[in-house]
Amino acid sequence: MEYKNLNNGIQMPAVGFGTWDLRAQECVKCVDQAIRTGYRLIDTAIMYGNESEVGEGIRRSGIDRTELFVTTKINSPYASYEKTLAAVDQSLKRMNLDYIDLILVHEPYPQYIQMYRVLEEVYRQKKVRAIGVSNLNRSLYEKLLENCETVPAVNQVECHVYYPQLGYKTFLEQHGTVMESWAPFTEGRRNIFDNPVLKQIAHDHGKTTGQTALKYLVQNGIIVIPKTSKETRMKENISLFDFELNPQEMNMIAQLDEKRSLFGWY
Ligand SMILES: NC(=O)c1ccc[n+]([C@@H]2O[C@H](COP(=O)([O-])OP(=O)(O)OC[C@H]3O[C@@H](n4cnc5c(N)ncnc54)[C@H](OP(=O)(O)O)[C@@H]3O)[C@@H](O)[C@H]2O)c1
Repeated sequence: MEYKNLNNGIQMPAVGFGTWDLRAQECVKCVDQAIRTGYRLIDTAIMYGNESEVGEGIRRSGIDRTELFVTTKINSPYASYEKTLAAVDQSLKRMNLDYIDLILVHEPYPQYIQMYRVLEEVYRQKKVRAIGVSNLNRSLYEKLLENCETVPAVNQVECHVYYPQLGYKTFLEQHGTVMESWAPFTEGRRNIFDNPVLKQIAHDHGKTTGQTALKYLVQNGIIVIPKTSKETRMKENISLFDFELNPQEMNMIAQLDEKRSLFGWY
């Protein structure tokens, strides 16, 4: 596993396990399997309704807590000072953890700056090791920077070969924020696995199309958190560190950039 250094010196795995839409016992089983497969970063959110199951999967795996990096996210029902504070304690309780590695404001709600300021307080109390944001575009991110003391460690945004947001990634890094990709496989909105450019490059390396799509992002310094409910795909999606894409291949994949979101809500 490779790691990215966050702006406060802590390290975050370059590949993690997404848990959107994993529920009940399937979620427990998948988180346990993912950790046993080698994942050390688990991504959840209050909105996913599976924090308890994520915590149970972590305990079932038997892995030492210090080896893991757990991310969760707070959403709009907790958009007041008291509620944001309480939300962090509730997430800790649901996951049965002593601390959270990274907590994000899930979306740019009207009160996203106030919510982030409460996370700064929670960070000072050492209940979380790092704080960040999700789904902030450039102007909202800049507005936050003007109104906060702690530069967000991470901005988790839509990011895949059709919309890699590489210019934005460079801008974020210049200000001390690492970009993390959600929906690295487009959440099924495109048949990324049949893309002829990715297929050819994958074939040349003896890898799969999915691995090639993920590697492009990781090689660009972007953290990825693909979700799968299947153990074979868990292994596939994390096996990214035994090959390198050459500059010509990186350039060919860069041509797939459509420079627009595939997600209307975003
Ligand atoms: N911050 C945000 O607003 C936000 C938004 C969306 C997502 N997220 C986070 O990002 C994570 C990843 O995004 P996502 O779950 O939306 O979508 P995704 O990872 O792009 O795609 C998941 C889909 O790809 C399939 N898949 C996974 N590996 C595969 C492989 N090797 N070959 C073929 N199909 C494969 C999965 O099916 P199977 O399960 O059947 O394998 C699932 O249908 C989420 O789980 C969540 O943690 C955050």
